Amino acid sequence: MVRPIRIVVGILCLLTVFACSRGRRNSGEDKLIVLGYSQLGDESTWRTRNSLSITEAAKEAGIKIMFEDAMQYQANQIKALRSFIAYKVDVIAFSPLVETGWDTVLGEAKAAGIPVILVDRMIHTKDESLYACALSSDFTLEGRRAGEFLIKKYKNDPGPINIVEMAGTAKSTPAIGRYEGFREVLSAYPKFKVIFSEDGDFMASKGRELMQKVLTRYDPKDIDVIYSHNDDMTFGAIEVLREAGIKPGKDIAIISVDATQRSINYLKVGMINCVIECNPNSGPQVMELARKIVAGEPVSKRTYIEETTFDEFGAVDAIPNRGY
Ligand code: AHR
Repeated sequence: MVRPIRIVVGILCLLTVFACSRGRRNSGEDKLIVLGYSQLGDESTWRTRNSLSITEAAKEAGIKIMFEDAMQYQANQIKALRSFIAYKVDVIAFSPLVETGWDTVLGEAKAAGIPVILVDRMIHTKDESLYACALSSDFTLEGRRAGEFLIKKYKNDPGPINIVEMAGTAKSTPAIGRYEGFREVLSAYPKFKVIFSEDGDFMASKGRELMQKVLTRYDPKDIDVIYSHNDDMTFGAIEVLREAGIKPGKDIAIISVDATQRSINYLKVGMINCVIECNPNSGPQVMELARKIVAGEPVSKRTYIEETTFDEFGAVDAIPNRGY
């Protein structure tokens, strides 16, 4: 006959095992995390590197990733987010193509209890509870850095200094920040004049088109500076300048954002004068945020990625290999 004391001890053991296994699962350490990731496209060298950083970091962290490329269409991103919600992923992360138009789908994610991480770009919303946290570059700071370089370069030049701006995708966070930060610092110096500013969608082909358009409109002698919101547009524009017999970096100063290896190479040979870094290697930080959120640990609402500037006034030959 089984004694009552043994039954009580047996029940206590079972309860202990159950409690321990629940505790482990809730800590997020054992559980396989499923992350739905919507990338906005593959428009640039930066973006290709960013996608690789995300997928490699997921593999490294043992996180199962469902990765969707929206090919620069917001509708595709919304569709991908809905498919992640239907699949009941543990966490969603995405790089929003533009800032507006996300409230409805993010409301659906919130109703389904799925936390959302914004990566690279931000959204414009009145309801900050629609996302758990954001990890991005400080695009306004990047724009300010571009302006500060010009103030330094032309400090002894009375002006006017005529600037052509090739902007990124309209209504996207980097285009807004790089436009505003640049003007913020230059507004105190009336000698700087932006004579042309148009959107080139962060693509080399559009950089070419924009520069061809600029050269039909202006005498190259009247252009002092090209401020390009990303390297790929810069590369497209440089091709056109060279075809027209104009020396990039010498006849016209060039500021480019991203700091891919090719733009650093151009800086080293004097074809670009200033490169503002935008760091695409956010993968490990995204995975860490996903792990913490699933484990119920606190995360900062906004994290900025560390970045720097490389320019002709620095030791350009000492810039380490970028790897992309
Ligand atoms: O959002 C980051 C920007 O998007 C990068 O500067 C650009 O190259 C990319 O396409």
